[in-house]
Amino acid sequence: MSVQAQLANQSIHSALDMVLDTAYQGIDTAHWKKLFASARQSQLEQFIVDMFAGKHINNSEDRPALHSALRNLSKTPVLIDGKDVMPAVTEVWHRIEALCNKWVGVTDVIHIGIGGSDFGPRLAIEALAHVPGIESRGMRMHFLANIDTAELARILARAQPHSTRVIVVSKSFTTLETSMNAKAVVAWLKDSGCTTSQIAHALYAVTANIPAAKGFGVSEENIFPFWDWVGGRYSVWSAVGLPIALQYGFETFKQFLAGAEAMDLHFKNAPLEQNLPVIMALSLLYQQEKHDIKAYAAIPYADALDWFPKWLQQLDMESNGKSVDRDGKPVKHSSPVVFGSAGSNAQHSYFQLFHQGTEIIPIDFIAVREPMSDRPEAVAHHRILLSNCLAQAQALANGKTASNPNDVYPGKRPSNLLLLPKLNPFYLGALLALYENRTATLGALWNINSFDQPGVEYGKVLAKPIEKALASHQDDIAASADIDAVTAARINLLNSNN
Ligand code: F6P
Repeated sequence: MSVQAQLANQSIHSALDMVLDTAYQGIDTAHWKKLFASARQSQLEQFIVDMFAGKHINNSEDRPALHSALRNLSKTPVLIDGKDVMPAVTEVWHRIEALCNKWVGVTDVIHIGIGGSDFGPRLAIEALAHVPGIESRGMRMHFLANIDTAELARILARAQPHSTRVIVVSKSFTTLETSMNAKAVVAWLKDSGCTTSQIAHALYAVTANIPAAKGFGVSEENIFPFWDWVGGRYSVWSAVGLPIALQYGFETFKQFLAGAEAMDLHFKNAPLEQNLPVIMALSLLYQQEKHDIKAYAAIPYADALDWFPKWLQQLDMESNGKSVDRDGKPVKHSSPVVFGSAGSNAQHSYFQLFHQGTEIIPIDFIAVREPMSDRPEAVAHHRILLSNCLAQAQALANGKTASNPNDVYPGKRPSNLLLLPKLNPFYLGALLALYENRTATLGALWNINSFDQPGVEYGKVLAKPIEKALASHQDDIAASADIDAVTAARINLLNSNN
């Protein structure tokens, strides 16, 4: 048997009928053994136990990271500091279900949130819309995130104010983009002739800061809580995922949670050697050690998953894009840059660099066995989609020699193939939970806290004096403690009439 065939044989792993093939990582048995041994040495198994047990693994904020409780459909008690959180989680499920039954005649939903309060539901709404035969209420789901009024204007031009519902989603309820956009949408409802009581009826909030939501004018019965032990980027399983239930029904939302729950059980119980999130994390660590990689890509060969890499970017880079470990000591490695988009489109964009660039970029190829449409062309098109996916991985791994240097493919470019039996609510949930658990595994192995994000605050603080300077319309702003000379000059440029 050739070395390649041997590698291929040992490289297939599966869970929930999802298959992970690591053959093109070029990792031999001896190296895999070393990788699993070092994961054990890093106490990865204990970390997994601690995470599900509600230990305060988010050490900087002294909190657990218990998003797994949000998809714990079995309702087995999950204790935080001795108190079971499942009754509160279950109550929110009941309220979501009741709301699904209550909303009739709604034409538009404006979901206002950013970052973790946006990517998850946006990805799910988009992905599930492609599931053949899925039942949909057919509401227009608008996602409003950017402070740039272009998005606001586009949405308000389409929505019908008297049959619109607004969901303000913000864990902190202090995020500037979200509160400004929420104010603008409420003003639009008012200007469109909605009465105060109609607005109160249309306005909902999902938040961990209930007093702030009330202060904004959301009535208590329209507030869906979630909790500080759920990180924003891990929150789609909470009421942040309301649009999924409202558009596709509560049963679909439950299926989505069920897929994630099944993946959690796999992550919790499978030995490291068969554990999909762990194997994926270790393959990245191996390439990082070997090639000092700076980036990796996730390429879903499914148009339905075009939003997946954007969701993954926040998940990975906000979680693990850090230079110091849990103890404040510098780390050797942390998250590489993450990017990607749907294949085969991506092939016609940046794959040139994958094949012949100077950087080695590990890739996760994500494919779905079944076509995502019931068009008569679907089977033939899907075969071409899959052959492209397989061909790219093969070309990257094996390369090609040629006398003309331009035609040489160096090869030995690593990739995983992750194959989903189909893309439905269950497998979407399983896919997202697989990557969440992979991110947590990477953090544990780098000894990084994957559940805080201290680095995103500083820019927000600096934006305030700059905004004030812009509002002054002065074009002679001098450098100060808050505004350096370059930025002062840029403000003056923007404030000048030229
Ligand atoms: O700025 C980063 C961040 O804090 C993310 O972590 C979070 O997902 C996003 O902003 C939105 O925060 P919130 O849900 O509190 O509005």
